[in-house]
Amino acid sequence: MQDVAKLANVAVGTVSNVLNQPELVAEKTRIKVQDAINQLGFVRNDAARQLRAGQSRSIGLIVPDVRNPFFTDVARGAEDAANAQNLSVLLANSDDEVSREQSMVALFEEQRVRGVLVSPAGEDLEYLKHAKKRGLPVVLVDRKSKEFSWVSVDDIAGGYLAVRHLLETGNTRIAFVGGPLSVPQIADRLAGARKAIAENGIASLDVIETSSLSVQAGRALGNQMKNFDGVFAANDLLAIGIMQACMVDGNINIPSDLALIGYDDIDFASAAIVPLTSVRQPSAEIGNAAIELLNSPDIRHVEFQPELVVRASTN
Ligand code: RIB
Repeated sequence: MQDVAKLANVAVGTVSNVLNQPELVAEKTRIKVQDAINQLGFVRNDAARQLRAGQSRSIGLIVPDVRNPFFTDVARGAEDAANAQNLSVLLANSDDEVSREQSMVALFEEQRVRGVLVSPAGEDLEYLKHAKKRGLPVVLVDRKSKEFSWVSVDDIAGGYLAVRHLLETGNTRIAFVGGPLSVPQIADRLAGARKAIAENGIASLDVIETSSLSVQAGRALGNQMKNFDGVFAANDLLAIGIMQACMVDGNINIPSDLALIGYDDIDFASAAIVPLTSVRQPSAEIGNAAIELLNSPDIRHVEFQPELVVRASTN
């Protein structure tokens, strides 16, 4: 910065203002300083600023798998909110492995991030409580816990909306497909589904637990779908896999033989060969809200309501 100041014939403080508060600097001076920066190829070293400030200008985000478009959209919403505060988002995937998630949180803590947003892989959040006690702001994404701030969706309401729609469109032999059922948001969706079935009193609900929520897991279920007239898949990736199995392998027509509804309303839902009915999660808004909660000194909870988006895959 001193070399830039010398070349531009201004004080070092003026160079600092051009970089941090350009609105305080006359345009003529700003151009002169910028020319010197370009001529010298000067790039600020944030590590020095970070050492002085004691924290970086980044926020850590850990999700199970960013290849699931739900989390891609959450990450995008978080990044837009972070950028508005002149901060960046560092993204990590836990692959639904607790040990990997914990090592990523530790890495972000060492890098002195402003805080972490975590969509937890496991039930035990003790390690996050310790990190929080050490001064690391933590916000849970897509998980609820009284110990932390969190942003989530009412998944019981979402499961209820999904199965009530299947019932209202004449389906009576319904399957819930998803898992592991130990995952709270999946268990909540099933609870909502059961609530709709109980209200109906006539229809049946079979639960087919899967080991993951992937397209591949959905593809593997094709031959089991013949026993039902409606399926509620716990997320859209599963639903897309089931759709492929039915239409490619199983000669089952969607929706005339089998009505199919997913959850998340990712972009691929509307783009599917039979546009997929889904329960929409406001994923970008979830990411955005999580960043905002990081700034709150108090524990706060934001629960969004899901929305039924009806398309061709249900009657
Ligand atoms: O983590 C898998 C699923 O849980 C996502 O598809 C989304 O539904 C999240 O709540």
